[in-house]
Amino acid sequence: MTDTRAALAELFRMYQVGCEALGSPLWAAMCARFALEAEAGGPVFALLEPHAGSTFADAYPLRMLGGLHRLALDGDAPELTRHLPSTGGDGDEDEVWAALSAIVAAPPAVLLDALTRPPQTNEVGRSASLIGGFLLLAEEHGLPLRVLEIGSSAGLNLRFDHFRYEQGDAGFGPPASPLQFSGCWPLRLPPFDATLAVTSRRGCDVDPIDITNPADRITLLSYIWPDQAERFARTAAAIDIAASVPAVVERADAAAWLFSQLAPAVDDQATVVFHSIMWQYLSKTTRKGIRELLDAAGAAATNCAPLAWLRLEPRKDLTYPELRLTTWPGGEERLLANCSFHLGPVEWLG
Ligand SMILES: C[S@@+](CC[C@H](N)C(=O)[O-])C[C@H]1O[C@@H](n2cnc3c(N)ncnc32)[C@H](O)[C@@H]1O
Repeated sequence: MTDTRAALAELFRMYQVGCEALGSPLWAAMCARFALEAEAGGPVFALLEPHAGSTFADAYPLRMLGGLHRLALDGDAPELTRHLPSTGGDGDEDEVWAALSAIVAAPPAVLLDALTRPPQTNEVGRSASLIGGFLLLAEEHGLPLRVLEIGSSAGLNLRFDHFRYEQGDAGFGPPASPLQFSGCWPLRLPPFDATLAVTSRRGCDVDPIDITNPADRITLLSYIWPDQAERFARTAAAIDIAASVPAVVERADAAAWLFSQLAPAVDDQATVVFHSIMWQYLSKTTRKGIRELLDAAGAAATNCAPLAWLRLEPRKDLTYPELRLTTWPGGEERLLANCSFHLGPVEWLG
């Protein structure tokens, strides 16, 4: 076996482990089969050979799986549509594999196009991790929040206060919200009793999804793994909520956009810069630029116009994401919670 084949197989095996860990047995099984096919120099090798040396973060296996899923969601791959659970299919692994391999052997334009872009997920389950930070800031400052999200994707998490969060008798958010998170805080509760108001919600993304555009909505759904019915339902509920809760998501690089948003400080509001699972996509220069911007804006922050940096990002060992908060004046950093990549238990540390 050549090194290139082995490298591509290795990439698929890394995603196999990821899909297993994050609850997609079907996509994990497909990654395992694509790994074997790559080793044998089959059609998937012909398709992805130019990217065999790419990194895990470049996510070529997920780009390809997203493109394949899109064909099924669009109704352009009837065999796949018949067998994927997300399109009402039976989830039969052999049938799904047969349909996927046939498409990979003669890749249509939609699939080739999907390879040119990184996957676009907007996981609203992350709001269950983020909410504790927003509530803590509202409680500590007693001010409404002006929220600025970088790497927003479709901006669904910018509507975090319109989702319902519950643990036992405690909770926050509209009780009748179509999006409910229940039982995620078994050990310790974030301050669900805080009074929280949002004055403005704005975000940016280098490749934003416009959820009012049907094709963009399919793009978003195509990156949800097809055997994850709950993620599909969560995203659909958040899209419904977003239709009546306006938020601006601009097409812009995070550093340049933050520069335009952070000055001047706004009185009688707490400005909260937040992000989830996007820091890894930034260059070192961009990360440094953002830290410098935050430090400069933090130096100008006052008790009437405080600044906060709330982020849900993976630990260095990539095992799970942590929720961290830095607040100005002062620049104090706190670890608020140990969390999950999608939706899962939140170990609130407060
Ligand atoms: C894995 S997605 C996470 C999206 C969202 N934050 C969430 O948690 O659901 C990462 C997002 O970061 C965006 N992104 C990557 N580099 C960026 C940059 N330099 N500036 C702004 N957004 C960026 C991508 O387009 C993508 O939408």
